Amino acid sequence: MKPILEVKKVSKLFGGLPAVNNVSFDLAENEILGLIGPNGAGKTTLFNLISGYHEISKGDILYRGHKISGFLPEQVCSQGIVRTFQVVKPFGEMTVEENVMVGAFCRTADPNRARVKAQETINFVGLDKYAAMQARNLTIADRKRLEFARALATEPKILMLDEVMAGLRPNEVDDSLELIRKVRASGITIIIVEHIMRAIMTICERILVLDHGELIAEGTPQEVTSNKKVIEAYLGKEESADV
Ligand SMILES: Nc1ncnc2c1ncn2[C@@H]1O[C@H](COP(=O)(O)OP(=O)(O)OP(=O)(O)O)[C@@H](O)[C@H]1O
Ligand SMILES: [Mg+2]
Repeated sequence: MKPILEVKKVSKLFGGLPAVNNVSFDLAENEILGLIGPNGAGKTTLFNLISGYHEISKGDILYRGHKISGFLPEQVCSQGIVRTFQVVKPFGEMTVEENVMVGAFCRTADPNRARVKAQETINFVGLDKYAAMQARNLTIADRKRLEFARALATEPKILMLDEVMAGLRPNEVDDSLELIRKVRASGITIIIVEHIMRAIMTICERILVLDHGELIAEGTPQEVTSNKKVIEAYLGKEESADV
């Protein structure tokens, strides 16, 4: 089957220095792909390039065989590719429901339809109790859930999760893993960036490892954890991987 996403020799330079360097990979429809690597490896930058937040310096990105590099974030989103943000910044004064409606407006201009979609999505992620609460009053775990809901309300085909489990307690990480499985079962393809190795290893079928902007390894969780380059660059360093 043709890949849903093809990243072809993509680079991003900041002030002449590569943050992402000649990275290529394919994403298969409905897989859960992990993206790991030390701080500053280029993981978030790669999400920024795929989602159109940053312009690509070199290379191409294809969605279902069509070029999407050069698209604006809202165009990428309407194609069905959406990401969450590593630093969650909900609209604090707005309710949970209104925050999720912002995502739903990617598909409709009608506030009533956006509200229905938001309610559905809020139920799906388990935030229904807090629908009318101001977002700034949510706990960290629920803010992460809200970020998830806002992304899902855009009705994505590909969902990119940037450290949605960072700062969560072990039982909250388990809830988050369950939610990710439920999202995948609904037919969505997922790319996940995370430092919590337990989470990555249990949920991903395939993992890519970035270091200094370059792809240094690719394989099953077992393959990457026993890869010498990966251990040297990342897994051996306690301050980086949360093992
Ligand atoms: N807007 C920007 N302008 C200049 N440099 C940037 C910008 N965004 C990222 N960088 C640089 O690009 C490199 C990759 O950063 P990135 O945020 O992609 O890393 P990361 O793998 O997501 O790290 P972390 O695990 O800490 O989130 C870093 O050296 C960073 O300083
Ligand atoms: Mg990052």
